[in-house]
Amino acid sequence: MRVIREEDTVHRDTGDMHAAEEGKVALVTGASSGIGMAVADALGRAGYQVMAHGRRAERLRELAKKLDGCAWIAGDLIGDGACEALFETALEQFGRVDCVVNCAGKNHVGMIGEVDVDALCEMVRINTEAAFRLTYLALKYFQEQGAGDLIHVTSVMGYKVRETGGGYAGTKHAVEALCEALRMELARTDIRVSCVAPGLVRTELHRDLPVHPSITRNIEPLSPCDVATAVLWMLQTPRQINIPQLVMLPKGHVI
Ligand SMILES: NC(=O)c1ccc[n+]([C@@H]2O[C@H](COP(=O)([O-])OP(=O)(O)OC[C@H]3O[C@@H](n4cnc5c(N)ncnc54)[C@H](OP(=O)(O)O)[C@@H]3O)[C@@H](O)[C@H]2O)c1
Repeated sequence: MRVIREEDTVHRDTGDMHAAEEGKVALVTGASSGIGMAVADALGRAGYQVMAHGRRAERLRELAKKLDGCAWIAGDLIGDGACEALFETALEQFGRVDCVVNCAGKNHVGMIGEVDVDALCEMVRINTEAAFRLTYLALKYFQEQGAGDLIHVTSVMGYKVRETGGGYAGTKHAVEALCEALRMELARTDIRVSCVAPGLVRTELHRDLPVHPSITRNIEPLSPCDVATAVLWMLQTPRQINIPQLVMLPKGHVI
């Protein structure tokens, strides 16, 4: 079932490609903002054909204008068949998928008396359920193809817990745990599964908080480009090297 509705059309820039990863196809979720947008940009500049996904069509349109060979589709990743439809669309457009970088996510935190449980559960659906669905779609496809890379942007909160952030940390722990098991299942194959776990990054993730964590914690966050650089490096490492987990923190981030 196809459930990508908002712009049920794929948009594609058909310019020439000319860089290191020419011919490879990357599916990037969360590409309308922050880390995902930086990853899509970095991969596009490295020569990947990028299928960019997010809900905000205008952002994706602007991104695609800057990148040769970038297609985009807007829609919600939560919902019956949404991940399946996205993956199928990428295959229809490009004929193959070499890597999936899953950057879609949200952050909802709060004390017991204040937390919005519906918002918390919506976060579980995008951070965990969509990540799980994309994982199995990608891995089954990579098994048929014989190779592929799957990278989830998790969080340092996939290893740590703090008050008010248990729900968010739980969503990230779950993805880390899944990927750790899958790494073992796939150890003798050419399929690599990785998690990149940043500390604080300056994006729109914390836009609903009254005070940005960089102020409460007195740290200068990483930039989305820092994370994108790490993702590209992981993808470009020789295939006999597997980097299952990468934690990256800004200077001064004590956790
Ligand atoms: N910023 C940090 O400090 C930090 C640290 C560690 C880990 N992370 C993780 O990094 C990932 C990217 O976050 P970010 O910091 O780049 O935040 P961001 O700027 O808010 O980007 C989040 C992205 O997820 C997409 N998204 C959210 N809900 C969606 C849904 N239901 N369906 C489809 N797309 C959806 C958003 O697109 P639309 O709004 O257009 O749908 C947007 O592109 C998240 O998993 C986050 O947990 C962030």
